[in-house]
Amino acid sequence: MSFDFKNKVAVITGGATGIGAATVETLCALGARVALLDRNREKGQGLAEELAGKGHAVSFHFCEVADEASVQAATDAAAQQHGGIHVLVHSAGIQRYGDVLTTTLEVWRETLGVHLDGCFYAVRSALPHMLAGGGGSIVIVGSVQTLTAVAGSAAYVTAKHALAGLTRSIALDFAKKNVRANCVMPGAIDTPLLHWAADLSPDPEAVLLGCARAHAMGRIGRPEEVARAIAFLASDWASFITGALLTVDGGMLVPTGGMGFQESGTGAVAKR
Ligand SMILES: NC(=O)c1ccc[n+]([C@@H]2O[C@H](COP(=O)([O-])OP(=O)(O)OC[C@H]3O[C@@H](n4cnc5c(N)ncnc54)[C@H](O)[C@@H]3O)[C@@H](O)[C@H]2O)c1
Repeated sequence: MSFDFKNKVAVITGGATGIGAATVETLCALGARVALLDRNREKGQGLAEELAGKGHAVSFHFCEVADEASVQAATDAAAQQHGGIHVLVHSAGIQRYGDVLTTTLEVWRETLGVHLDGCFYAVRSALPHMLAGGGGSIVIVGSVQTLTAVAGSAAYVTAKHALAGLTRSIALDFAKKNVRANCVMPGAIDTPLLHWAADLSPDPEAVLLGCARAHAMGRIGRPEEVARAIAFLASDWASFITGALLTVDGGMLVPTGGMGFQESGTGAVAKR
């Protein structure tokens, strides 16, 4: 027994690279018709053409998720081209750093605009199509920072926390209309975004090593490992799961006090 997405249409924001791109590939492999929405025209178009060349029904639609009209136009075009929408994955995202004093209003609005407004716009655009087709499944890409905080990331942490509330609101308000909404919360994943962040340091390798050590599994995750969790939640196999927040983090949030405490605090006593 296996699950598949035959006769299902999936819209994926941020599908040009990283977790979104892995999700595009995974859902294509499982038989979905996929619309890839992204502002990176070159990478998005390139991936869509590559997958179409392999026989998949996939299209690219330019989309700026912080612009409601752009999201609406891209979503409607996707629904028209593929014949409805059954799955929405919101993976578009950016990383910005600063505490509440050093974060400019511009950066605050940019970060919340992409993560939170973007998700709101994507859901508002896709939901009517789902309802018209009898239901659907929404998967929002949060972060371990949906539950916890990384220093100097006020806007990002706030946006990711807010996505938990949005997930639960959608889940509750549309449960009886056969629409499910869930949130995946990745740890550090090997994507262009992680490398962009590491490159802000004079020693990117040390940052990546620190990220790897922060997970109980001792390594950074791969985009397809998140994509598979997204695919499961988006599928009919998750038919009784809604409003859930699922960590996909190699055990990052498991150890009391983090891995440092486990290695040097009382967490290490029994190992001596
Ligand atoms: N990589 C990680 O370690 C990690 C960890 C936890 C959560 N996340 C989250 O996963 C999601 C995907 O991130 P990723 O790591 O795959 O990064 P990524 O940079 O590889 O992919 C993000 C995609 O979103 C697109 N995008 C960004 N802003 C956009 C906008 N305004 N309009 C349209 N498209 C836009 C980019 O062009 C890119 O294709 C993000 O929400 C991110 O916060 C990532």
